[in-house]
Amino acid sequence: MDRFIIHGGKKLQGTVQTSGSKNASLPILVATLLTDEPCIIHRVPNLRDVRTTLKILEYLGKKIEYANGTVTITANGPLKNSLPYELVKQMRASFWVAGPLLARFKTAEIPLPGGCAIGVRPVDIHLKGFEKLGASAVTEKGNVVLHAQALQPAKIVLRFPSVGATQNLLMCACLIEGETVLENIAKEPEVDDVVEFLRKMGADITADAKGSLVVRGKTSLHGAEHSVVADRIESGSYIIAAAATRGDVVVENCVPEHNSILLENLREAGVPLEVTSHSVHVLPYEGRLKPMRMRTAPYPGFATDLQAPWMTLMTLCEGTSEIDEDIFENRFMHAPELVRMGADIVTEKSIARVNGVESLSGAHVMASDLRGGMALVIAGLAAQGATEIERVYHIDRGYEDLEQKLTALGADIRRYNPDKNEF
Ligand code: EPZ
Repeated sequence: MDRFIIHGGKKLQGTVQTSGSKNASLPILVATLLTDEPCIIHRVPNLRDVRTTLKILEYLGKKIEYANGTVTITANGPLKNSLPYELVKQMRASFWVAGPLLARFKTAEIPLPGGCAIGVRPVDIHLKGFEKLGASAVTEKGNVVLHAQALQPAKIVLRFPSVGATQNLLMCACLIEGETVLENIAKEPEVDDVVEFLRKMGADITADAKGSLVVRGKTSLHGAEHSVVADRIESGSYIIAAAATRGDVVVENCVPEHNSILLENLREAGVPLEVTSHSVHVLPYEGRLKPMRMRTAPYPGFATDLQAPWMTLMTLCEGTSEIDEDIFENRFMHAPELVRMGADIVTEKSIARVNGVESLSGAHVMASDLRGGMALVIAGLAAQGATEIERVYHIDRGYEDLEQKLTALGADIRRYNPDKNEF
């Protein structure tokens, strides 16, 4: 299995381009199941989760061409309405095919995704929504079997603004004639991007004054072409990496508005920033950063996906910072690894107290999940000495061309496979 070896202590310098969003690409690719007509999606990052989604679409009956960030999806015979566990266990977001398949076939069988390193991650909000839309949802031999005589429009109030449930129910509602209203929905930019793509496919979706989505379902949708929104978690990670190394970095082709809370927190902590409509310039600074209190929350709150990289930055502040992880119940797996690098962090339930230290030191550590892995990469870049990170496959799920982008910024990072004994 691949590892990273990072020789830290170098200030990042230069310009880095933001890739298309992983978390918008996945549901947009899935939404192409709502039509048999060709769809063309641009700015799709070449990532493990994207490749898994393309495999799923192929399995279900689509023909895929993927070159230079553009995916062309066409029909390749009749669609299937079930997935094998082999594909679902690789990526929880596979469950999101349930909405489009239910809408098209009135019946679908999808393996129940298990928990993962960051939490239990149930799908009850998705299932309650499907029931409101007229389907029965029964779990049999590990599979969720969805079935409806006829689907019906409904008013659905989500008990929590789940990103995945919002997207899954939205896709389903687009093919149910009549008016479906989705309340207390997720407002993440990735959801907006899915809405934009569905509208291009001919869906009638509007937002009401309260921010609920009103879907007037159609009997069919058509093919569409779309370019995926910038990945705010990737741009946020590079911005934090620049700050942690006291670098001088311009993150280009991003949407700074989608990182507003992060940028506000960074400024308050003492990181100088110059922001345009599409770029963030992180400037070098003297002295130590101020400690901060931060709580993760649904958008526009602080993104849980940036909590781990943020924790790395806070390990270098002068004083005690507090982080409250309110979205996932087990998203501090990176904390003990950061402690191995010299950080002083105490976690208790959803709270992490980070007592800032003057510097981190390189160590042998292990990535336990995607963003926790990125937190270790940033720590390795800021630390004195060499850091070896195991289980890089977690990080490969979400950061396109990571070593290339960091190397271009002056980092010393190499991929190494000890099994093959090759760099
Ligand atoms: C999406 O996951 C993202 N994944 C996650 O990104 C992100 O961390 C998360 O949203 C929150 O922003 C993709 O977009 C592919 P949720 P999702 O449903 O949709 C609970 C990354 O690092 N919940 O909004 O699965 C759930 O357990 C990843 O890129 C229920 O209880 O997240 C969690 O505590 C990881 N029942 C909370 O809601 C449900 O039916 C938020 O989950 C659904 C969710």
